[in-house]
Amino acid sequence: MATTQDETAPNTSAIALGAIAAQQDTLAAKTKKSQWWRAVLGEYPTGVALVTGRHPDTGEAIGMVVGTFAAVSEDPAIVSFMPSSSSYTWGLLQRSGSFCVNVLGAGHEALCRAFARGPEERFTTGEWIETASGDPRLADALAWFDAGIRDVIGAGDHDIALGDVRGFGVGQGDAGMPLIFLKGGYGTFTIPSLEFSPRGVAGSLRQAESVRQAVDSVAAELGVLAFVATVVKDSIVVLAAANVGGAEGAALVGQSFPFAAPIAPVFAAWSSAARRKVWEESSRHLLGVVDRPFMEGMLERVRERGYAVSVGDSLGAPFDTIVGDPDSKPSDYSRLWAEIDRDFRSLADPATLHEHVQAIQVPVFNAEGVTELELFISGFDLPMTPERFGEIRRRAVAAAAGLSEAIGGRVPDAYPRDLLD
Ligand SMILES: Cc1cc2nc3c(=O)[nH]c(=O)nc-3n(C[C@H](O)[C@H](O)[C@H](O)COP(=O)(O)O)c2cc1C
Repeated sequence: MATTQDETAPNTSAIALGAIAAQQDTLAAKTKKSQWWRAVLGEYPTGVALVTGRHPDTGEAIGMVVGTFAAVSEDPAIVSFMPSSSSYTWGLLQRSGSFCVNVLGAGHEALCRAFARGPEERFTTGEWIETASGDPRLADALAWFDAGIRDVIGAGDHDIALGDVRGFGVGQGDAGMPLIFLKGGYGTFTIPSLEFSPRGVAGSLRQAESVRQAVDSVAAELGVLAFVATVVKDSIVVLAAANVGGAEGAALVGQSFPFAAPIAPVFAAWSSAARRKVWEESSRHLLGVVDRPFMEGMLERVRERGYAVSVGDSLGAPFDTIVGDPDSKPSDYSRLWAEIDRDFRSLADPATLHEHVQAIQVPVFNAEGVTELELFISGFDLPMTPERFGEIRRRAVAAAAGLSEAIGGRVPDAYPRDLLD
């Protein structure tokens, strides 16, 4: 029997089809909204961390990638992250009662991708040790937090997980700057001051050429190693060097190393606030902390003296080995800076300085009275007589003042005038 369709009363299959179409529309709209939501959120950069723990029944390592780690409170120390309430790993972590946050560095991108691929690949790479709570901890994570779950707040399709911090610290390794997630991809962070400025270097090189003769004559007259260096962004760059009868000086030209406290204080003692900040922040990267009172005291002494001195071996062979090796890692620099820091703290009694002093650094000023170049003199035969040290100091200060003049600079009024006489 043939049937005709009543146009005002759709049949049941048409209703079903209509319902499916409507559902599809809603789904398409939802997907579109979700994609748009993610795209918009993708404009906001996040750090990347692995939240790890133990399966409450089997004890096996579990973990997930999160971009929502945040510190909540300092006292008491509380951290948080926001897991999807449907997350398999989060369900298990909640039952186990604790978690470890492992902050990833740029060097962890492959590990992070392995974690994102699925549970079976999550602990196949990386060196894992344990927190006091027994959770897996990535040995070279940039930072880690061992936390007990304090509270869970439901928020839509995610939870806000709050953890009481039981322990925290920085990892041992070379994972570099933090891994960052932005616009759906991984990247890392560059400090603007790290950006290379060829124009700045070229200008400094021209200056160096005009001061090279002065460096040569100081080195020849005193029988020492002398070099002139400048600051380019966050690096010290050696522009000209000389020493009598040795190739050592020539090898130094072009060498660069971090402009990071406590090294090269003459560049921070007469300086712009911005440059001073670079000096401190670079040091924070290498040493993990900045001891401001110590640095202030050191800079004050440098300003009173009119030059800086260094003692100890760290600026000798250990320095040359690490700075001269292009394969040196950030951890090598951190170790070297820790030694340099120790040496700067053990500065000898001024009365006996001539017996220990390894180097003297004198500022060359620009027109604003800011240190533009540093005249670095070392290679003395130790111990020296006080007279020999006095002669080196006088000659170095006079040469630096001559260089200030040669580059159109001016020695600031507050500079100790007796040194210039
Ligand atoms: C960079 C990045 C950040 C992420 N952030 C979170 C997050 O904060 N919360 C979350 O629940 N999932 C986040 N995820 C997704 C989870 O890692 C992913 O869903 C994982 O499969 C969850 O683990 P599970 O499958 O064991 O539940 C992120 C993924 C990536 C790649």
